[in-house]
Amino acid sequence: MANIFPYESILGTVMMAVSLLRWPLRRVRQPFQHHPLLLDHDPRNAACIEHRIAQRPSHTPVPSRGAMTGRDHYYNKAKQEGYRSRAAYKLKQLDELENVLDRGDTVVDLGAAPGGWLEVAAEAVGPDGQVIGVDLQRIRELEDYDNVETIRGDMTEPRTRERVIDAAGGTVDAVVSDMAPNMSGEYSLDQARSLHLARQAFETALELLDTGGDFVVKVFEGPDVDEFRAEVETEFQYVRATNPKASRDESSEVYFIGKGRLTAPIRPGDELEVEIEDVGGEGDGIASVEGYRLFVPGTETGETVEVRVDDVKPNFGFAQRLDQE
Ligand SMILES: C[S@@+](CC[C@H](N)C(=O)[O-])C[C@H]1O[C@@H](n2cnc3c(N)ncnc32)[C@H](O)[C@@H]1O
Repeated sequence: MANIFPYESILGTVMMAVSLLRWPLRRVRQPFQHHPLLLDHDPRNAACIEHRIAQRPSHTPVPSRGAMTGRDHYYNKAKQEGYRSRAAYKLKQLDELENVLDRGDTVVDLGAAPGGWLEVAAEAVGPDGQVIGVDLQRIRELEDYDNVETIRGDMTEPRTRERVIDAAGGTVDAVVSDMAPNMSGEYSLDQARSLHLARQAFETALELLDTGGDFVVKVFEGPDVDEFRAEVETEFQYVRATNPKASRDESSEVYFIGKGRLTAPIRPGDELEVEIEDVGGEGDGIASVEGYRLFVPGTETGETVEVRVDDVKPNFGFAQRLDQE
């Protein structure tokens, strides 16, 4: 017994050492999981990865390696120029296309984390403007800007909308939404969730926007999107659909830009009787419909005429008299 004891002892020590060495290896091999707090500024934040088009089979929900690392032109540009996300360039391009951000504006940004759009909006509105950003996730403080306020909350909950309305303290000039759901990998589900978020943004915009204000919203293409666009069209002077260059080529997202929020009590095609109260510089009669100015060519002050509305702009519209058609 005395002879074999040292060998057993050596064997036991070696096995213990091997076991200790393997423990960290096992730890390292655990699949990587995001800590919820790490999602804030992680470029892999699932909600911020643009959704690839529907053909991706549902059993391969993980985006391509390129998407995970995101090291494309706009990712690198954002790093170099100090923006928090590549998405910043999408808002820049949308603004270049339709001029939604002006100096001195108040802007509400929905789905604002990590804050690329907030930075672009804060620069565009300048120190006399105000930007309010909302997200489910915490938005790290934007130290370089005094004109940005952030709210952590879920825009599908009425109390978050109330907080945004309180923070705005009145009507606003633009509501922009880049909200995206956390991707399940099941396109039809993600698309339906994206449309739900777009509708929440639209309702918020209707509550908050001043006459003539602008609305930008992201939605994944798919069922009911045309219907949604038609709804937006009834509330704005016009709607433009676009994919900014900074969206990935294979992305299925589209942005609607609603220009010129209409608060007029009438819409194109309406027929009504109006009294001409004045004649404008161009010679058109002017009627007032609940305080909204309606120009009616070929009419005189004091006439009461049946008209059909043919153009509605935020602050005035045009109508044709029906008895001369
Ligand atoms: C594509 S990222 C936005 C990127 C941002 N525009 C930027 O420039 O940094 C989409 C964001 O929508 C947010 N989001 C999704 N659902 C939301 C909800 N119900 N309420 C508020 N934010 C939401 C996500 O948390 C995510 O941060």
